[in-house]
Amino acid sequence: MARSEDYKLGDFAFPRGWFMIADAAELGRAPLALRFFGKDFALYRGESGRLVLLDAHCSHMGAHLAASASASIAVHGEQIEGDSIRCPYHGWRYAPDGRADHIPDYDGPCPKAAKLRSYDVREVMGAIMMWHDPEDGAPDVDPPALPEWDRPDWINGAYDHLGTLNVHPQEILDNMADSNHLGPTHGSPCEYFENQFAGPLYYQRQGGFRREYDAYLMTYTWYTGPGLLLSRQSIGDVRGIEFIFHTPVDDGVTKVWHNNLLRSPGDAPDEALKAAARRMQDEVLSAFQQDFDIWANKKPAIRILGLPTERNFALGRIWYRQFYNPRDQAESFWKQVDGRHVPTHKQRPPDIAMDLEADAHGAAS
Ligand code: FES
Ligand SMILES: [Fe+2]
Repeated sequence: MARSEDYKLGDFAFPRGWFMIADAAELGRAPLALRFFGKDFALYRGESGRLVLLDAHCSHMGAHLAASASASIAVHGEQIEGDSIRCPYHGWRYAPDGRADHIPDYDGPCPKAAKLRSYDVREVMGAIMMWHDPEDGAPDVDPPALPEWDRPDWINGAYDHLGTLNVHPQEILDNMADSNHLGPTHGSPCEYFENQFAGPLYYQRQGGFRREYDAYLMTYTWYTGPGLLLSRQSIGDVRGIEFIFHTPVDDGVTKVWHNNLLRSPGDAPDEALKAAARRMQDEVLSAFQQDFDIWANKKPAIRILGLPTERNFALGRIWYRQFYNPRDQAESFWKQVDGRHVPTHKQRPPDIAMDLEADAHGAAS
């Protein structure tokens, strides 16, 4: 397992950005115990519906706020009061800003040190996302939010929880520049391929004949920051949007979710169409599974033995380093990579129109 410092990514072990941390569908009345960025968190929804994410370990004696399901107040659903949460050990109560605001059987004021860190958290497209910043700064971008998620003529998938890989996210990001794996791994060698970098955004456009579909596949894929990939895809008249969201758990360990939206040919999708959408999601997922199997079994590519036609790997790695270094250095990485980069053997044929470009692509651009 390789770590951020092995890839020489920068000053920080974990990157800055918005990251998926939970599927909104899995958060019920009980708080969720989460681990990301080498730390433990407690996530819960207050009675008002407000989402709260706190450091997990109580400032009294270190109990985990969300991982003691057998404690009496957890069993009886009494941990959440209003938008606050009580520790399952001695019942200290924390407000959404992380300050302790009530201690049972104690008349004095809550100690000032009884405070947990509270994090910026949002619900976007059925995903709960947190802002992670090693410098503790406020978000400078919004997470992407596609209008299709709320449109009646698009069918939303449920998130597939793909679990945790002992793979550094650098190896997953490398996929964006990887024109030459599309044939051997996915059975759809690309006819054209290009990457583009624009500040915190990283694009890939490619197309080619896909053997499994017996049709021409075009994809327009982009990362908004280091952990959120969206991909518009067309095969004939079929239009879909693939989601691949991944978040560091520990240094060199990554959790991955997958989703897919499908455009409905009519206004209101019926049950048969929803079933067809699920089948489509499984097909898209099986293509992703092809990458997943490679990652799960590969040795880390600390250095890539890159061919002259594979320059984009190096550019993608430079782009990725902006998130592992102080924010005021980000521009120095943009200057090195911003613009379009087309491998010489993958120029776009003039008769292929990039109609996927015409669609808006989320809030962060
Ligand atoms: S450890 Fe949380 S209240 Fe004592
Ligand atoms: Fe791939």
